[in-house]
Amino acid sequence: MRTIDWNEESNSVVLVDQTLLPQEYRVIECKTLSSLCEAIQSLRIRGAPALGAAGGFGIALAASLSSAKDIESIMRDLKVAAKALKSTRPTAVNLSWGVDRVLNAVSDAFDVQGIRDIALQEARDIAEEDVETNKLIGKHGAKLLKDGDTVLTHCNAGRLACVDWGTALGVVRSAIADGKEIKVLACETRPLNQGSRITTWELMQDKIPVTLIADSMAGWAMRQGLVNSVLVGADRITQDVVFNKIGTYTHSVLAREHEIPFYVAAPISTFDFKGWEGSIKIEMRNPDELRFAGCEQIAPKDVPVYNPAFDATPMENVTALITERGVFYPPILLDEVLV
Ligand code: MRU
Repeated sequence: MRTIDWNEESNSVVLVDQTLLPQEYRVIECKTLSSLCEAIQSLRIRGAPALGAAGGFGIALAASLSSAKDIESIMRDLKVAAKALKSTRPTAVNLSWGVDRVLNAVSDAFDVQGIRDIALQEARDIAEEDVETNKLIGKHGAKLLKDGDTVLTHCNAGRLACVDWGTALGVVRSAIADGKEIKVLACETRPLNQGSRITTWELMQDKIPVTLIADSMAGWAMRQGLVNSVLVGADRITQDVVFNKIGTYTHSVLAREHEIPFYVAAPISTFDFKGWEGSIKIEMRNPDELRFAGCEQIAPKDVPVYNPAFDATPMENVTALITERGVFYPPILLDEVLV
């Protein structure tokens, strides 16, 4: 199934619970807005494009649950829902984008049922378009990979971070579909191990060759000549930087030092045309994510912890941005991406 979808029978958002992978593949139902917010906050659903769909379906869910009888009241309910959804994760711009897109769409409705119908249709469109967008990103990006390449990736920018196919891993999938042999080096991505738990699992499901490394091994792997390019996704792209999972910046510096191309694959919905590095709030997460590995305590209980979820890679370190509209090389004027 897709990473996230709408269940017609139960009027709920269904999603793959990614906190359980790789031990268990379980689909859960979110029937209330608070359960969806909890799923986003605890990373049961994660990855920028999947969060865009979650934002859209979240507003559709709030519309379906609202008992309002008039347009003003249901719009009030939707605005409360929008605020709750957006506050779950502040850095990935797609979440707000998905929420706002559905909110804008319902402004055309004439009655309460119209709002419900339009909200659900718009959320479904977001999900549908995400798959098409990723296929286009894959098509454009595949041209940058050569037969026999090994790609280093960080976190999970695959089908589980999107509705389907993936951004960075979508490029790998497309290159393989074009007949190229591509191998992936997956960084484990401490502290929540999206690389070791999710990227390796989804690539192995598709029989795409993948080797797991600890994050600290990336530089040495590059020096050993084991990496042809670095390929990552993004949570927000501003004029000056690319926000992505913590650790991405380090890989960009290492890639530059080793003269290895550093590619970022992301849909236009990840672009923040008004923001810049200093204007964006980086999500700080629970210190226990570092003090524990799963249930096992691996650091003193009360050790002070610094746990930002994302970092910002300067555009100077980016070789190219791969989008559904094509490949863009710095200096990138975001206005040109929109044309
Ligand atoms: O905290 P996460 O797991 O939501 O972080 C995800 C990432 O950083 C991904 O690389 C990014 O969202 C791109 S997903 C196509």
